Amino acid sequence: MNAEREHFSSKLGFVLAAAGSAVGIGNMVGFPVAATKGGGGAFLVIYAAFVAFICLPVMLAEMNLGRKTQLDPQGAYPAIAGSKSPWRFAGWLAVLTPFMIGVFYMVITVWILGYLLQTVMGNLDTLANPDYFGTFINNYSVFAYLVVVAAIVHVILVGGVRKGIERASRILMPSLFVMLLGLVAFVLTLDNAWTGVRFFLVPDFSQVDGDVISGALSQAFFSLSLGMGILITYGSYFRQRDDLVGSAKLVAVADSLVAFVAGLMILPAIFVFNPDTNPENLNESSVAMIFTFLPQIFLALQDTLGYGGASAVAAVFFLLVFFAAITSLVSIIEVPTSTIVRKYNISRKRALGLLALTMGSLTLIAIASFGMISFFTNFVSYGGGSQSFFDVIYDVFYDTVLPLNGLLICLFVVWRWKQASFHEALAEGNRSYSQSLLKRYISFSLSTFIPVILALVFINTVASIFF
Ligand code: PHE
Repeated sequence: MNAEREHFSSKLGFVLAAAGSAVGIGNMVGFPVAATKGGGGAFLVIYAAFVAFICLPVMLAEMNLGRKTQLDPQGAYPAIAGSKSPWRFAGWLAVLTPFMIGVFYMVITVWILGYLLQTVMGNLDTLANPDYFGTFINNYSVFAYLVVVAAIVHVILVGGVRKGIERASRILMPSLFVMLLGLVAFVLTLDNAWTGVRFFLVPDFSQVDGDVISGALSQAFFSLSLGMGILITYGSYFRQRDDLVGSAKLVAVADSLVAFVAGLMILPAIFVFNPDTNPENLNESSVAMIFTFLPQIFLALQDTLGYGGASAVAAVFFLLVFFAAITSLVSIIEVPTSTIVRKYNISRKRALGLLALTMGSLTLIAIASFGMISFFTNFVSYGGGSQSFFDVIYDVFYDTVLPLNGLLICLFVVWRWKQASFHEALAEGNRSYSQSLLKRYISFSLSTFIPVILALVFINTVASIFF
């Protein structure tokens, strides 16, 4: 593109947009449940340490690569490594990843919209039936919700960086936080709520084992939207003179804070519903949690609030999750959008049209793979069973490619970009960085244990899923 690159209007604009990406379904449900199963406060401490000591350096590496080159991932790697360098494949992978994960995240967002509308229409009792979800995902109404979600994302992304992404984040993120605080305040007034808070906060180190620790790392990595080309892309909309290091810290804090506060909403709700819940028996899957378990919990509120009141609480919850999902989805789709716009020199509108066709078709296939079309339902076989098209996207792109992309960027910084130039670029806009302890820490960790840990996570996931 010859036109000047668009930038976020300010540091705050960037922080809100990046936090909009980071705050998603993972914060609202995944984190609280993982924390409670993983020993409450013990998990929280481990998680916080991973965010600060492992994720923050990777996050800064991604954002810095984007800001320095002012390019999307596909352009950014070769801009530093040279156009013939094998590193260009890392760039391609960082675009392919969000392209595929966008399909997966789209499906989930579509379901959330469906549940939101059903709740508003007064059908909470139907949603609370444990068998309903299975029927819902194969109901043709899903296609109507898909059109609505695609239209919303399209309108936001066509607006570009400032008038689209930033403006949406400025509206959706604060509203999300207000709704979240409102729900927390309300839930904490109910009987037995504090039992839930206790399970979430009181440390129980006996629950911590290898799985909990690796789960905490994956959760932190996923929650901060790492390994997805997103922070490279958003970093490229950040100006050189603004403080990137400080902004990244704020994003990490904001994301963790929202996850933490969400725990103060979900856990009390679970224990109000059933004071004898054993944390170990909580279902780990966010999907099962959101679409099967939580509707039952909301319906149970009708004893105190009446059906209308219970439906209203459920509607606020689904709206909250919907906002979180939309800003995340926008960030995922922005990666291929910005790549296509630059590479093929076409308008955002046309790039989005192209993505609507391609990602849209894959999304239709993913939706049909829950039973509508049996070819896609039993798509391939691995890991001891037949897997649907949707499962394949999840297993290949979600679980395994994220740590791989993280590993690649660490190796890239250390072996190709070189630490001295990397830190010089990172220090722009932040006077104290060059002398800081943080700089020495990042330099050490990126060249030693972080890539080792990410490589182990990658190998371990591949082994556990496919063999
Ligand atoms: N970070 C989001 C969450 O916690 C999920 C997400 C992953 C969003 C990857 C965008 C990209 O739910």
